[in-house]
Amino acid sequence: MQVHLKIQRFNPETDKEPWWSEHDIEAEPADRVLDALNQVKWFQDGALTYRRSCAHGICGSDALRINGRNRLACKVLIKDVGKKITVQPLMGLPIVKDLVVNMEGFFAKYRSVKPYLINDEPEPERERLQSVEDRARFDDTTKCILCAACTTSCPSFWAANGEYIGPAAIVQSHRFMFDSRDHGDQERISIMSDEMGVWRCRTAFNCVEACPRGIDITKAIAEVKMAALRGKIE
Ligand code: SF4
Ligand code: F3S
Ligand code: FES
Repeated sequence: MQVHLKIQRFNPETDKEPWWSEHDIEAEPADRVLDALNQVKWFQDGALTYRRSCAHGICGSDALRINGRNRLACKVLIKDVGKKITVQPLMGLPIVKDLVVNMEGFFAKYRSVKPYLINDEPEPERERLQSVEDRARFDDTTKCILCAACTTSCPSFWAANGEYIGPAAIVQSHRFMFDSRDHGDQERISIMSDEMGVWRCRTAFNCVEACPRGIDITKAIAEVKMAALRGKIE
């Protein structure tokens, strides 16, 4: 099938404003949008710049705004988005070049929630045991691949000029707060209670729609809000 791609471009060395390049390509309906971008880069315009690595929905590096919605280019089939495809960088993060955004602010927020096990008790001889039920409490939030599709689709994130900690960091905080082996809940509750923490969420639900891993982000956010209200995990 014939596909028409419209891609937002920006080279900070030569451009004052973003502009659009347009490309006609031949593609199979079951090709992914990433295949279409590759065709443009490999056969039409080698300067086109975007991130990708695994091509299988695992690394989270090719989250893009495709026909106005945040998705992974390697997971979206062309037949599902149609013959006219618009591709833009994620909104709310500074553009480095074309479709590549600067993720440093995003990862700084991730680091700020202490995304690692906090437990000062002496290490047991073997592993720290956990019941199946306790493991299930945070199973959903372990699926996050840090693609930023949620945070960069959130109106509260845009409204706070990127200062709001955002759903991805809250998901990561949830993953450790609700882990029965972790003892860092007070530290994380305090981080979440910051002016730019979990209470900036206005339950817009854009994050849930954007998540390529199908994580129930608003449920995780509600549980973190409840923990912040009670001052402890229950
Ligand atoms: Fe991506 Fe989903 Fe993780 Fe957000 S929660 S960073 S959308 S995988
Ligand atoms: Fe934003 Fe998701 Fe809350 S889109 S406002 S973090 S429900
Ligand atoms: Fe790795 Fe798409 S290239 S998630």
